[in-house]
Amino acid sequence: MLVSAEEMLKKAKAGKYAVGQFNINNLEWTKSILLTAQELNSPVILGVSEGAGKYMTGYKTVAAMVDAMVDSLGITVPVALHLDHGSYEGALACIEAGFSSIMFDGSHYPIEENVEKTKELVAICKEKGLSLEAEVGSIGGEEDGVIGAGECADPNECKAVADLGVTMLAAGIGNIHGKYPDNWAGLSFETLDAIQQQTGDMPLVLHGGTGIPEDMIKKAISLGVAKINVNTECQLSFADATRKYIEAGKDLEGKGFDPRKLLAPGAEAIKATVKEKMELFGSVGKA
Ligand code: 13P
Repeated sequence: MLVSAEEMLKKAKAGKYAVGQFNINNLEWTKSILLTAQELNSPVILGVSEGAGKYMTGYKTVAAMVDAMVDSLGITVPVALHLDHGSYEGALACIEAGFSSIMFDGSHYPIEENVEKTKELVAICKEKGLSLEAEVGSIGGEEDGVIGAGECADPNECKAVADLGVTMLAAGIGNIHGKYPDNWAGLSFETLDAIQQQTGDMPLVLHGGTGIPEDMIKKAISLGVAKINVNTECQLSFADATRKYIEAGKDLEGKGFDPRKLLAPGAEAIKATVKEKMELFGSVGKA
């Protein structure tokens, strides 16, 4: 059964570790992440961008697939199915489709409009027992068509949004989706510290988890980050393993072209990436 992310994130914030959100794109991705979470006895959040939702033929397909897979694989660790960077309409569609957690990204609206729309979704999610993530200050780079300039969030605006009753808050602190440029200034721990002081027990979310150095990840967790999103790194490890398989000519040996064989190295590579992240985030054994 899918669960809201509220309980797992409260525990993570109190226990000073972070739950990983790993984005899914297809069945193989989903299976690899679920099996790894179960093996490591770790809670997990499956992220679905609007683009990935469309690719998988719609949110209903995604919710039905994930729900059935949790059951068929005998997954007993807490699993939340979460819309990533949702629009207002996307959020409503995912609530309807059976997602257990929603991100409404209103960071591109003026703060008053972000607050207004977030407030409406807080009421709906509370009634249905779903968790809700809000965003203040945009995350740099591009995430599946959502582009942000990456300005740091204003701690007072963070407090205003946290006080609406959201479950978790994503705040821009210099983080960027995708690969970090060589001249990246790093995370602004000053901003993170100020946000945590304003928002108290609120679990904070760090987007753009790919390529952030380990010491910065650990420091961010010590300053209140309880959820870390990873997407690009799984994509890179999947692509790398698939390329090696093809370059070695394995797709031409025997039945190596069978998609179940062709996609297997990529699926194994995702498992290794997820394991590495869960160990780094400290969520192993916390289910
Ligand atoms: P990366 O693609 O940089 O890992 O970021 C993922 C993310 O933040 C999804 O919301």
